Amino acid sequence: MKVIVVKNQLEGGKIGLELLKESMANGAKTLGLATGSTPVEFYNQIVNSDLDFTDMVSVNLDEYVGLDGSNDQSYRYFMTKHLFGEKPFKENFLPNGKAADLEAEAKHYDQIIEENPIDWQILGIGQNGHIGFNEPGTSFEAGVHVVDLKQETIEANSRFFNNDINLVPKQAVTMGINDIMKAKHIILLAFGEAKQQAIKSLIEGEEITENIPCTVLKNHPSVYVLVDKEADFQ
Ligand code: GLP
Repeated sequence: MKVIVVKNQLEGGKIGLELLKESMANGAKTLGLATGSTPVEFYNQIVNSDLDFTDMVSVNLDEYVGLDGSNDQSYRYFMTKHLFGEKPFKENFLPNGKAADLEAEAKHYDQIIEENPIDWQILGIGQNGHIGFNEPGTSFEAGVHVVDLKQETIEANSRFFNNDINLVPKQAVTMGINDIMKAKHIILLAFGEAKQQAIKSLIEGEEITENIPCTVLKNHPSVYVLVDKEADFQ
C-alpha cells in the first residue's frame, strides 16, 4: 500500500488522474467508479483532460434503492453530471436501485462485474470505514448485495438531502468487498478530518477486520491511498 499525503482535493485529483493515465497507457479498459463528494475533483480533472473513454467501460460501486436516474440524488444522476455527460464511454454500468426484484438485480450486477473485470478502481471512504456501501460487519466474502444503511451513514449522507434524514434512502445495492478486492489496482481518496479515524485504521492499525471494512485493503497487492493533511492522522 502506498500512501501519498496531498495538499488538498485538487492535488489529490491531479495525482489520481496521473495514476489513471498510467493504467490506461498499460491497457486498462474497465474502470470501477465511486460517488460522493470525494472524487468530484478527480472527475473534474478527467473532464478537463484529453483522455478518451469511447473504448472504455465503467462499473459503478453502488446505487440507492428507490432512486432512478432522473432523481438528482441518485448515483446515476451524479455520474452523468460529473463525468458521463462530458466524457462518453462505450458502456456505463450502475446497479438499478428501482429494480422490482433487488436480489435478482444484485445477481445480475455480479454477472456484469464478472464479464467486465475491473482494471482500475477509485474509492472514497465512509467515516465508519465503509467502502462502496459495505457497512461495518459485512463479510469480506460478500458479492453484490442489498444493504441496510447504518444510522451514521444515513446521517453523514443527509447533507445531500437538505439535512433531512427522512429523505435519505435507507437501503442501497452495492458491490461487495469480494468484488472490490478483485480490481487490479485500487486508488482510495480521503479528504477532511472526518475521515481521519478510518484512515488511521487502514494505514496504522494492525487489524484486518470486517468491523472496519476498509482494513481489507491491506490484503490487496496494489493500493494507493491519497489523503490530505486533515484526513492524515499523523
Ligand atoms: C457513500 C458512498 C461511498 C463514499 C462515501 C463517502 O457512502 N457509497 O462510495 O465513499 O459516501 O462520501 P463522501 O465522499 O461524500 O464523504
